[in-house]
Amino acid sequence: MQALHFGGDYNPEQWPEQVWADDVELMRTAHVNLVTVGVFSWSRLQPGPDEFDFGWLDRVLDLLDDAGIGACLATPTASPPPWFTRLHPDAMPVTRDGIRLTHGSRDTYCVNAPAYRAASTRIADALGARYAGHRALRMWHVHNEYGTPCYCDHCATGFQVWLAGRYGDTDALNDAWSTDFWSQRYREWDEVLPPRVTQYLSNPAQVLDYRRFVSDSMLRHYIDQRETLRAASRAPITTNFVLGGWVPVDHARWAREVDVVAIDNYPSSVDDHLTERAFAADLARGWARAAGHPDGRWLLMEHAPGAVHSGGVVRALAAGQAREAALTYLDRGAVGVMYFQWRASRGGAEQWHPAIVPHEGAAAPIFQEISLLGAELAGRSPTAVSAQVALIFDELTMWAWQAPHVPSRDIDYEKMAYRWHGVLGGAGSAVDVVPVTASLSGYRLVVAPALYLMSQAVHTALRGYVLEGGTLVLTFASGLVDDCARVTPGALDDLIGARIVRHTPLLSDETVALAGTDAVGRRWFDQLEVTDARVTLQTADGAAAVIEHRFGAGLVRYLATDLDERQLLDTLADVRKGSAE
Ligand code: GLA
Repeated sequence: MQALHFGGDYNPEQWPEQVWADDVELMRTAHVNLVTVGVFSWSRLQPGPDEFDFGWLDRVLDLLDDAGIGACLATPTASPPPWFTRLHPDAMPVTRDGIRLTHGSRDTYCVNAPAYRAASTRIADALGARYAGHRALRMWHVHNEYGTPCYCDHCATGFQVWLAGRYGDTDALNDAWSTDFWSQRYREWDEVLPPRVTQYLSNPAQVLDYRRFVSDSMLRHYIDQRETLRAASRAPITTNFVLGGWVPVDHARWAREVDVVAIDNYPSSVDDHLTERAFAADLARGWARAAGHPDGRWLLMEHAPGAVHSGGVVRALAAGQAREAALTYLDRGAVGVMYFQWRASRGGAEQWHPAIVPHEGAAAPIFQEISLLGAELAGRSPTAVSAQVALIFDELTMWAWQAPHVPSRDIDYEKMAYRWHGVLGGAGSAVDVVPVTASLSGYRLVVAPALYLMSQAVHTALRGYVLEGGTLVLTFASGLVDDCARVTPGALDDLIGARIVRHTPLLSDETVALAGTDAVGRRWFDQLEVTDARVTLQTADGAAAVIEHRFGAGLVRYLATDLDERQLLDTLADVRKGSAE
């Protein structure tokens, strides 16, 4: 029986060695079996450009191994040491507005700076060579939460090369980026720059491509390290994904490059934290499945023990909530639940972050709570989850919704996905939250709200799914642009059986009265000319609000406006009945 991973980030270098033995003893009490070590240890491991010091890490890993605790051993590249910064000022990140950041926090690097890439591979190589055979080693943890963008000259050059690879010549780039708008036609690759701060609105296609480029640049940095470690070691290799609209990482693509999808999850709402966790868990499982791991197993690499840490405020959760949080992840296919961090740091930037062993010590309630949980989970193995329902959540669409100029600022793509997830889950289904690149054929029902950006491949995939008998729910604000952020009028008409003749984003106090119900539509209204569909819900003045279209062997439901939860549930119940016929 495969045991669950239980533990968290352990930063022993912050403590005198006498504390380490206590730590390991307490870990045994708490049934911890895996700790992430070394995430921010670069300045200890490599105190100077040509000096290495592994003695302390040897002793830590030996201690852990003696206690039967495994190590998820990190490469420390998320925080280069001060000597590196001094030697390579060009490797510091530059913000969109041209400010070169200085050392003093973490993530001060540019993944496109040759010196940083070389230094990263070097330290990964040294760790691989030294610890590949260590008995404590269970897994490699490359870097930490990739997501730091940079707009420096190294990035500019890298972007030009990346674009040349994607488009071939500048004519194709000009076409893709619609550069005749505002006289942006490029003749030479080196005229093209990252979307740095400019006078007014940036070009949305440029912004979108820059995110893709940043994601690919970081992925190359990850792969360099992965290959270095792989040459020395057979242990699984991963990196911890951080979630959120600000993260320039195409996780669906990355999921194919890790041995196990691992996410960090820090909900922001005390009241709704379980809902946020459920979404993140179903998303991690969806990424894993879409990346070719049919069992959908994934690992929760970090979450805060018994607390929600948001907006600078640490709020302890009520007793029992840490357990509920862990079970929310485990019931959704996590192969382990890990925390940040094991022992609270006395000083440093995150000295008030919650920990399993808080400043008050192991007598504190949180340690007791986590220990009881550890004991409970010790006998449990991972849960297999099968889902017949998928919710499409597309990070490219999320990015596209952040463009400087969109039809409505009132569409919060993530919130919309959360709502649908809640409705689908509330209807009693296990829901895989999947990227648009996932194979949909195994799902009975697929819901894709506000899928603003749809490439030709996505159009084809959705049609293929429905033609073969799938049931697809689409909403307003979908299929409006292609993968270069160019408007694609009429792109959904054949699929939904209606012509969308006018989009009307609504103001926050505007509603659409619906026939036969006191519920109203909000946020948006599409005026439809129905060609081949059946109207299943009308507005009070007789316009189509929800339509249904038989397409091939399947069914498409289109919502022209945003409905409340009850109304959404009705729509789903109805569609499901339809698909079961
Ligand atoms: C992230 C990081 C950790 C820590 C936590 C808490 O998930 O990976 O190093 O900073 O957040 O803020």
